Amino acid sequence: MPIGPLMIEHRLIERMVKLMAEELPKMEEKRGVNIGFLSEAIDFIRTYADRCHHGKEEDILFRDLAAKLLSAEHKKVMNELVEEHISARKIVSRLAGAKERYARTQKDGFQEMITCLTELVEFYPAHIEKEDKRFFLPVMNYFTRQEKDEMLQEFWAFDKNLVHEKYRNMVEGYEKNKKP
Ligand SMILES: [Fe+2]
Ligand SMILES: [Fe+2]
Repeated sequence: MPIGPLMIEHRLIERMVKLMAEELPKMEEKRGVNIGFLSEAIDFIRTYADRCHHGKEEDILFRDLAAKLLSAEHKKVMNELVEEHISARKIVSRLAGAKERYARTQKDGFQEMITCLTELVEFYPAHIEKEDKRFFLPVMNYFTRQEKDEMLQEFWAFDKNLVHEKYRNMVEGYEKNKKP
């Protein structure tokens, strides 16, 4: 079943989100930030949770579901899930911006980082629960066995390309920003 890998990915996202939640009281207590951890958490959310995980949901599963005659309820939940991915991306961008400001000034952006982290640790468990409990299993019924097998193959191909895409983008980004 193609939802197998998606659910396994949910478990790792939950573990990372738990670590982020544990970081919050420490930040408030010290009035400071572990920039190294925060940078890696942002990379995890962007690369793993968003590009790798939401990427497979949106570019493959939701794309194939959109070609099916969905019930009103499933259509509604799918639209909500897409909207939620968009709002999560915005929170992570705000968090990354706040982290940059904080790294530069050692004070600006602190409260914004707390706000964004709080929003993310609330967002992910609710979003994941909605998919795990109300969406993934029932929507598998729209697909034949062969369609599910093909979807799983496409998931593997998608994942295989990611590490190449990530580092190609990194090199290209530095090349573009190089001063002449
Ligand atoms: Fe999702
Ligand atoms: Fe998900």
